[in-house]
Amino acid sequence: MADNSPDFTSVYQTDERADHWAREKLRRQESSAAATETLIKAADLHIGDRVLEVAAGTGDLAVTVAQAVGSSGHVIAVDSSPQMLAHAEKAAREAGVNNIETRVMNAEELEFEESSFNTVICKMALMLFGNPLTALTEMHRVVKLGGRVAVMVWSSADKNPFHGLPLQIARRIGNIPTPGPDIPGLFALGDSERLKDLFRKVGFRNVSNQSSAHHRKYVSLQDALTLIKSSGGAAALQNVMVNLSIADQEKAWAEITEALTQFDGPNGFEAPGEVIIAVGTK
Ligand SMILES: C[S@@+](CC[C@H](N)C(=O)[O-])C[C@H]1O[C@@H](n2cnc3c(N)ncnc32)[C@H](O)[C@@H]1O
Repeated sequence: MADNSPDFTSVYQTDERADHWAREKLRRQESSAAATETLIKAADLHIGDRVLEVAAGTGDLAVTVAQAVGSSGHVIAVDSSPQMLAHAEKAAREAGVNNIETRVMNAEELEFEESSFNTVICKMALMLFGNPLTALTEMHRVVKLGGRVAVMVWSSADKNPFHGLPLQIARRIGNIPTPGPDIPGLFALGDSERLKDLFRKVGFRNVSNQSSAHHRKYVSLQDALTLIKSSGGAAALQNVMVNLSIADQEKAWAEITEALTQFDGPNGFEAPGEVIIAVGTK
């Protein structure tokens, strides 16, 4: 049975998924605070910069970047999901920033002239694209000479048990092999050396990367399980689960619950996690 990757582009094109992503904003910001700071530092933003955010989602980062580049700067937040971008516009209004523009666009076909931006950023999305190399090539094309492209992606599955363990369990029970790194997925770019190689292949200079913690904290194991069933990562798990019989799905959920119990404690559910921040200069 095949574990074909889900189409992560269409997964986010529903009100339900976009509303869910917007509702989870605070939790996401808490989990990724240190990593986001590292990403912003890596992007080396300046007042007045023109910044492109690729796959901006509900605009968490776009608002921070818009504040960092000031009113003389400009952020263009693109995403293939109009539903996600509708939330980004709302987030910009609520934050009182008016230097963000949103545009529905495919990361692999950026509709901008070459050398249009001082910086390009992309958070937690490059590994989901059909062809990350094409997307990186596009980012390289539209950034100015000397400008940076900075991305954040999930590290490897073993460093991210919150999504890694459920996927591993469901694949084992369904006898489904782990997909190779060329198949889009949560952990497709989790090998930091390979990620650097992609940047170099595209022509970036001064390529470097670093890892950062991305811990998960929920009120309870039940709360965590609910999220596993409804987040973007749920699409990856669902994609594996559909290949299992109902009995095997039940077996998988029982094992997943058991495996994740190790992260449940007196202070609620806390699972470790890790992301990689990679940066290159054109
Ligand atoms: C995991 S979410 C991350 C959103 C946001 N960057 C964040 O960190 O909150 C992935 C995002 O990638 C977008 N996406 C997926 N495929 C895309 C593509 N081919 N072009 C542009 N955006 C895409 C989705 O619509 C979704 O908003």
